[in-house]
Amino acid sequence: MESHRRQPSDQPRALDLRPEWSALLEHRRSSTFDLRALFAAEPARGERMAFPAAGWWVDWSKHLVTDATVRHLRTLANAVDLPGRSAAMFAGERINSTEDRAVLHVALRAPKGVRVVVDGKDVVPEVHAVLDRCAEFAERVRSGTWTGASGRRIRNVVNLGIGGSDLGPAMCVEALGHYAERGMRFRFVSNVDGTHLAVALRDLDPHETLFIVCSKTFTTLETLLNARSARDWLLAGTGGDARAIGRHFVAVSTNAVEVQRFGIDPANMFGFWDWVGGRYSVGSAVGLSLMLAIGPQRFREFLAGYRAMDEHFLEAPFERNAPALLGLLAVWYRNVFGCPTRAVLPYDQYLARFPAYLQQLDMESNGKRVTKDGEPVRWATGPIVWGEPGTNGQHAFFQLLHQGTELVPCDFIAFSRSLEPRGEHHDQLMANCFAQTEALAFGKTADEVRAEGVPEALVGHKTFPGNRPSTTLLAEQLTPHALGALIALYEHQVFVQGVVWGVNSFDQWGVELGKVLAKRIAGELSAAVEPALRHDSSTNALIRRYRQQRKA
Ligand code: F6P
Repeated sequence: MESHRRQPSDQPRALDLRPEWSALLEHRRSSTFDLRALFAAEPARGERMAFPAAGWWVDWSKHLVTDATVRHLRTLANAVDLPGRSAAMFAGERINSTEDRAVLHVALRAPKGVRVVVDGKDVVPEVHAVLDRCAEFAERVRSGTWTGASGRRIRNVVNLGIGGSDLGPAMCVEALGHYAERGMRFRFVSNVDGTHLAVALRDLDPHETLFIVCSKTFTTLETLLNARSARDWLLAGTGGDARAIGRHFVAVSTNAVEVQRFGIDPANMFGFWDWVGGRYSVGSAVGLSLMLAIGPQRFREFLAGYRAMDEHFLEAPFERNAPALLGLLAVWYRNVFGCPTRAVLPYDQYLARFPAYLQQLDMESNGKRVTKDGEPVRWATGPIVWGEPGTNGQHAFFQLLHQGTELVPCDFIAFSRSLEPRGEHHDQLMANCFAQTEALAFGKTADEVRAEGVPEALVGHKTFPGNRPSTTLLAEQLTPHALGALIALYEHQVFVQGVVWGVNSFDQWGVELGKVLAKRIAGELSAAVEPALRHDSSTNALIRRYRQQRKA
């Protein structure tokens, strides 16, 4: 990124007091953004406003922007010192101020030889040491050298984790399913609902099953309860000898003490560090299930994809910098157009879980109501992120995207070559992807509808307003490298938005209150005699009703 850093001055720090912010709002008020007119005025807009980024083609021409908008967004990015904040993150500064931690998921993909220093210590050798241990373990399991307690080969891998310890690996194992070892099955159990574990284990043979207990803190209630139940299931199915645990349970965590307390040999623990946020962790040992699925070499290609996007983010000028530009465009829609949501629409079945993954990445990072200084924000922050793989969404919610009353910026994610080519399927899929971006952008006017002979009473119903913005991200094929780059693109985009909004994108205090209350209520639900309930009347009544019905 260009680094004309802001001069230290007495400029007001609050976003809405910055002159660059007012200028952006004024630009919106005084300009029109009509995609039909913009494309008519510049026939080559679709080529000019597109560029390559770490193997992805980023087409941002169908956005409600002019060159002046981009100048305003770039000025704002510099005003909030985006280049400086990025440099601080990459340098290992403790930018997660409320937890007093560095934020260094970028160190997970730093090649050997690059130095990333935290508290005076280069962490890159440690990162590679853990990767090498994971690789060695993965090779042993994949080759059948590592067996279950009865000497049978491991054919099932069950990851027990939740949030970042589940969504990343689950999404990636599915996304890279084409490359996965066919003789192995991978399951992900996250929900504390016992049904999740029951269904996942129903058809598995414990003698051939390896559990990865994946938890950064190793204190997460859901994961530990699932792990204990999985341990019971294993022991019940393998003869009850506790020594079996050592062959069937490994842990991924930062908490060696709790791992050992659970009964997992520290030799079977793969570590990571407090400077890796859960939702940013799939490139660490948290991706062990992915490595087991696709093998260490492909896992390294996956990390190389991240790294390529990291370098792009650090080096590309603003107008051709995918995370910076798309991050600022997200701010443009969220704050200037007031869009409450954004849709992410992968046109690839393998990416079916990508929107769910992004929900945590984006909403846990930027769903914040105070600035880094703890002051309430006076501007909107993280939008609601949602989506489904195409073309399913077209037959469900696209109606609202085209003709609803909300403006929903969309990301279309697609590949030129299918990993599973089959007749005309891929051309049909891609035709739909491109058609949707075109229909959203240009719509169909009332006159065009009338010209087709549509009766006047139906003209309003059949008119498409258009002018609905989208980004198209196109890569050649869904490879480990492409997926790594895509994840890093969104990680950095989320970071960019957080910098503009002035929030800490790396803590998640908002998940705590529910956890505390649930602990208290759990005791009240299971107590033999109804305890004194001191909640509100609704919660008290629900607890009483539940207690009555659970006995039946
Ligand atoms: O409760 C939210 C959260 O802390 C997420 O941020 C995290 O990814 C998830 O729980 C799981 O945490 P852990 O990996 O420590 O079990």
